[in-house]
Amino acid sequence: MATPLNVGIIGMGFMGRAHSNAYRKVGNFFSPLPRQPVLKAICALEPEDKLKAFADTWGFESYESDWRKLIARPDIDQIDICTPNVTHKEIVLAAAAAGKSIICEKPLAMTAAEAQEMVAAVEKAGVANLVCFNYRRVPAISLAKQLIDEGRIGRPFHYRATYLQDWTISADVPQGGAALWRLDAKTAGSGVTGDLLAHSIDTAEWLNGPIRRVVAKTETFVRERLHQDTGKVEPVKIDDACMFLAVFENGSMGTFESTRYARGRKNYNTFELNGEAGSVFFDLEDPQYLDYFRYADPATGKKVEDHLTGWQRIHVTNFEHPYMKKWWVPGCTVGYEHTFVHTIADYLQGMATGQPAQPDFRSGLRTQQVCDAVLASAQSGQWVDVA
Ligand SMILES: NC(=O)c1ccc[n+]([C@@H]2O[C@H](COP(=O)([O-])OP(=O)(O)OC[C@H]3O[C@@H](n4cnc5c(N)ncnc54)[C@H](O)[C@@H]3O)[C@@H](O)[C@H]2O)c1
Repeated sequence: MATPLNVGIIGMGFMGRAHSNAYRKVGNFFSPLPRQPVLKAICALEPEDKLKAFADTWGFESYESDWRKLIARPDIDQIDICTPNVTHKEIVLAAAAAGKSIICEKPLAMTAAEAQEMVAAVEKAGVANLVCFNYRRVPAISLAKQLIDEGRIGRPFHYRATYLQDWTISADVPQGGAALWRLDAKTAGSGVTGDLLAHSIDTAEWLNGPIRRVVAKTETFVRERLHQDTGKVEPVKIDDACMFLAVFENGSMGTFESTRYARGRKNYNTFELNGEAGSVFFDLEDPQYLDYFRYADPATGKKVEDHLTGWQRIHVTNFEHPYMKKWWVPGCTVGYEHTFVHTIADYLQGMATGQPAQPDFRSGLRTQQVCDAVLASAQSGQWVDVA
């Protein structure tokens, strides 16, 4: 029987549900686990009846309204942070000081300076830590990483990422409050840069290595919105859209585009990497597939016969594909929620083996540094080196 890992989750919104589901499922599909998560307590600001209903629905033993009380509880081993960005740093510092292991939702922090403090805190405390950049664990994206590591893309030339949504086009959408904190810079830190491009940057650096420098342009299309906390129309301080060019350490060039104003796009998170030996393309709205163009054989470097070249759509559901052996039979798909199950499974393995699952907080700091460079460049209009 695996040793229990007593988990307290803070936040019962979108991510609170995704993480609760993952802790519940992981033992069923990824057994034997080195530690068995136990949902000890949920903590959030919702009224007590909602907290209690959430605890009952998801199988938590108890609930709390104050995260400080949760962290002080000796029966909690791990804190899982699913709250708005502005709260991450304070919770992490307290949880690390209390010796709890920590999973924190992305973006790790509001700024790289904050993230630096958080890295120092977890490293000083020696506690396990992970930033939940769950898209790394979409099987098709993990397969892209495998193909790159196998040399099938060869020397990289171009990396192209988009992350497009359309839910803030109406000027009638207010900002702030419990539901729309993403539109309030005080709570979110930034707009699409921290919320969406952070994902694209994490994936890009994982697949194609560090970004050296960036030049960016941001735009705020709706400049004033009703603020739900104050009841007044207030300036909007987040970036509604951001485009940036990047130069990677490996010499390849990148373009990144993100917006919440792409009518018809809901969660259009795509990337394409073009190399000398091949290319890969992925689209999160069609997540079962990885598109792969094979130009040359990685072992021999020999060009594929001309009549056999062409884009290949790999249906990423075979037992040989990342994570898929743990689920169903070939041809049967998994979806969004499974990326969180994979995240928890890898994290628990990392705790046991001493080879921490990535991205840990130090790796999450990198993403934050790129985001800071992007926002600084958008301010100055100049190329900015990533710290
Ligand atoms: N990995 C992903 O793909 C992904 C997707 C969505 C959100 N996120 C991140 O997850 C985090 C949460 O986002 P969400 O969409 O779940 O938010 P949400 O608005 O759906 O839920 C936020 C929850 O946090 C709680 N909360 C807020 N302040 C609190 C406090 N001081 N103490 C205790 N509880 C508090 C609220 O009561 C609520 O339950 C954010 O950092 C966001 O960027 C990540």
